[in-house]
Amino acid sequence: MKGVVLAGGNGTRLQPLTLVGSKQLAPVYDKPMVYYPLSVLMLAGIDDVLIITRPAEIELFRRLFGCGSRLGMHIDYAAQEEPRGIADAFRVGADRITGEDCALVLGDNLFHGAKLPSILRRAARELRGCVLFGQHVAEPQRFGVAEIGAKGNLLSIEEKPEHPRSNLAIPGLYFFDDTVTGIARGLRPSARGELEITDVLRAYLAEGRADLIRLGQDVTWLDTGTHESLLDAGRFVRDVQHRQGSRLGCVEEIAMRMGFISADACYELGAEMSDSPYGQYVMERARAHRLDPAPATFLEE
Ligand code: G1P
Repeated sequence: MKGVVLAGGNGTRLQPLTLVGSKQLAPVYDKPMVYYPLSVLMLAGIDDVLIITRPAEIELFRRLFGCGSRLGMHIDYAAQEEPRGIADAFRVGADRITGEDCALVLGDNLFHGAKLPSILRRAARELRGCVLFGQHVAEPQRFGVAEIGAKGNLLSIEEKPEHPRSNLAIPGLYFFDDTVTGIARGLRPSARGELEITDVLRAYLAEGRADLIRLGQDVTWLDTGTHESLLDAGRFVRDVQHRQGSRLGCVEEIAMRMGFISADACYELGAEMSDSPYGQYVMERARAHRLDPAPATFLEE
């Protein structure tokens, strides 16, 4: 399965932070924002990822991850010339995605929770069309919204409705089968001029091929699109890390835990950042893994 991180967009709601840089490289406490969505794909077992960015920023992302080999992955890049909507990712990335199932994650979405890895693996395993997620939120009108019938079946999907039919927001993480590029090719821009991800989801729903998995309250989902939510996300990461003594979105540790790289390789990556607590954490996790390579709790069912 291919992974796609959409890290395009002009981040206008975060200006002036984003005037000369990518929103998805902005810090969320101790690491660039993109580490978090990338780590979600890795936890789903995906080691082949396409990162889509603005043309001017491809080189910055490449400096961060290179070809991915240091993480035991294959990471490739594609430029989105204009922010034409989320579903444009399947047009921009068509030649790298076609013929494969794929998971798309938005570069500004952050997920955390002990159950997350098993939920992700279930989504990949049970994929028969598309899988989207739903989480109860206070302000559904800010998101894609799903309506669920009495039997738990998906009834409707709407993009930022004025009068939402439910409180079930659709986070920026989706699994699709190999028909997604064909569906995206047939899309027309919405009233706001974008190729909407909700229109892709609706196409699957119309064919009876869309499944929704609820993210319970034990999975935290944050988006980081405004100054307030960016600061909230940073505080959340700091608080969880301090309390649990672990790191969220630590791609080096996850690469090791997923078996993409050895403990020695992980240690080397940490050692390159040994002045920072983050680098020291990576080295410490690698050392512990050498002694006891049992999966961390975050990989348990
Ligand atoms: C996008 C999607 C929306 C989804 C949200 C999740 O909205 O269009 O359906 O619920 O991401 O973050 P955006 O926030 O990019 O406008």
